[in-house]
Amino acid sequence: MTTTSRRFVIAGNWKMYKTVDEAHDFTRRLYDQMKDDVSSVDVVICPPTLALDRVTHTIEKELGGAPFSTGAQTMESGDEGAFTGETAPPMLTSLGIQFVILGHSERRQYYNETNETVNKKVQAALKHGLTPIICVGETLAQREAGETDTLIQAQVKAAMTQIDAVILPQLIFAYEPVWAIGTGKTCEATEANRVCGLIRTSLSKIGDASKTRILYGGSVKPDNSLELLSTPDIDGALIGGASLDVSSFTQIVYHAAQLSQKVPA
Ligand code: PGA
Repeated sequence: MTTTSRRFVIAGNWKMYKTVDEAHDFTRRLYDQMKDDVSSVDVVICPPTLALDRVTHTIEKELGGAPFSTGAQTMESGDEGAFTGETAPPMLTSLGIQFVILGHSERRQYYNETNETVNKKVQAALKHGLTPIICVGETLAQREAGETDTLIQAQVKAAMTQIDAVILPQLIFAYEPVWAIGTGKTCEATEANRVCGLIRTSLSKIGDASKTRILYGGSVKPDNSLELLSTPDIDGALIGGASLDVSSFTQIVYHAAQLSQKVPA
């Protein structure tokens, strides 16, 4: 294992699921269920924007802290402005949010996010002290055309435009092959690890990427998470479907905690 200096990140992306009340209920149930020591893992839940306030309030005020924190699923890059429906970084930081998913393939596909807009958002996140979880990944057509590696390298390079190399240890990337998202088709662990390694190699051209966390996302479930997380270049998981279920999500977190304990200090 080369994960000695990298803490696992297990992040749940709820997408457009759960009302505010449901999110509140889930947060309390997750807290009740997560009894084992998971202090070696960074656990993040990313509810819909509307529920962020209630979830952070539940964690901080109702529960007096929890072994997990919150992240946003997207944001705009400007500090404020006439952008109907959007959320600005200071609105997130004012709630104590620490993480933001950027460039998820659903944002790229349905909301026309490009490599350039993703890069602007990465810059904005860093300016405001948010940790971006930067998603990259190829479609099935791109994989079948043998374009995976070139595309991933290009997405990584574009996301890093004008980003100071000293910030690399703070960044989180997620390799999310589009064909594996919500399809039940997981990328084989060896291939997922290879592409995560490729992301690290691409980042190494910019600076020291040995501490950058690189997650895998795409149909991660309790029955495949141990294998995926056991590989040397996968430092965590970005989980959609399985994060909507308290016990599935907790089991994946436990797998990460279990593996962390095996890593020599
Ligand atoms: P999935 O989604 O786990 O449901 O495949 C992953 C994601 O979109 O981040």
